[in-house]
Amino acid sequence: MNFLVTGGAGFIGSAVCRHLCANPAYRVTNLDKLTYAGNLASLRPVENAHNYRFAHADICDERAVLDILRRDDIDIVMNLAAESHVDRSIDGPGAFIETNIVGTYRILNAALEYWRGLPEDSKSRFRFHHVSTDEVFGDLPFDGGMFVEETPYAPSSPYSASKAASDHLVRAWHETYGLPVVLSNCSNNYGPYHFPEKLIPLVILNALDEKTLPVYGAGANVRDWLFVEDHARALELVATRGRPGESYNVGGNSERTNLSVVETICDLLDTRRPRAGGKSYRDLISFVTDRPGHDRRYAIDASKIGRDLGWAPSENFDSGLARTVDWFLDNKWWWGPIREQRYAGERLGEARKEGV
Ligand code: NAD
Ligand code: TYD
Repeated sequence: MNFLVTGGAGFIGSAVCRHLCANPAYRVTNLDKLTYAGNLASLRPVENAHNYRFAHADICDERAVLDILRRDDIDIVMNLAAESHVDRSIDGPGAFIETNIVGTYRILNAALEYWRGLPEDSKSRFRFHHVSTDEVFGDLPFDGGMFVEETPYAPSSPYSASKAASDHLVRAWHETYGLPVVLSNCSNNYGPYHFPEKLIPLVILNALDEKTLPVYGAGANVRDWLFVEDHARALELVATRGRPGESYNVGGNSERTNLSVVETICDLLDTRRPRAGGKSYRDLISFVTDRPGHDRRYAIDASKIGRDLGWAPSENFDSGLARTVDWFLDNKWWWGPIREQRYAGERLGEARKEGV
């Protein structure tokens, strides 16, 4: 089985590449543009594997994608390439429209042309798996409700709106042209190789640098947290066994307020890497201006993927967070250059800008 993973140099895509390459019956091509979020160091465990190869390309480049599909005889496309950070989408939505909407349109065109030219047995095996987010559903009240696959789309940020648009395009290519697509929508991932602009790695690394730990608003917003390796297993199942035209919600069954996430990280670091002077890392917590349009709560009902594909998360939040903190403590070689050269942790997405 030959996979094309787009965005494979990113956080989740690299976990998918590492996971798939462990199966010698699979061959994996990682297609990535290498934006600020792409990092080939995340592929170090597989870069010399016989069943892994890298292609430096943009999903907006239809011709390049089509050439790679044909060259590598692809059976399954897993489309993870995206601009993924809500705060950056507030500061500059253009790149999100370009990659998440136009890019998805272009890769769908390439996949359709490729699929139409396949012999019948390959044609029936082919899948286009689009990886999306629970943020397309908007947000939930604090006191109840969960997103199911049928929840109407109501995105609130430029990021989630661009992902919602891409999901609609993928469904349309199935309904209109018959392209065999599957979709998945998942909650907030965390784990090793997480780019330190997102809450969990940012807080770990700011704490180690003795910098303030920025909590937006009162820290009462709730996210459901999914360990990235559990997500990679779910994605393999959806891509290989999901029913064409269907979508699957993936969640970690681990809802936490942001403040409790930050406090738990502080407590883990207090025991693992105590501060000089003996104070708790909790003293570094700083409540800062809220994110504009900040979604209150996300929660996922993942019963469909459990029932239909037999998936369940293996990590709970406490075990997964402890593994994550330990990984960051042990792997400065990976994050040190990012903090020095790409992103040092400054606030993003704060201002409502006129006329963007
Ligand atoms: P990421 O930002 O860490 O990585 C994105 C990758 O895509 C990078 O390697 C980047 O170089 C690449 N890329 C960007 N534009 C590209 C283009 N035009 N052509 C080719 N490659 C391009 O993102 P992530 O957190 O790994 O998310 C992966 C996917 O999962 C995204 O589609 C995202 O919307 C979705 N998702 C993420 C989360 C989460 O918690 N991180 C949750 C739900 C869904
Ligand atoms: P983030 O990791 O950016 O993911 P998402 O916006 O996709 O949920 O943020 C997770 C939550 O943490 C979100 O409610 C915003 C909040 N947050 C902070 O409180 N401080 C921060 O510095 C960041 C980056 C996020």
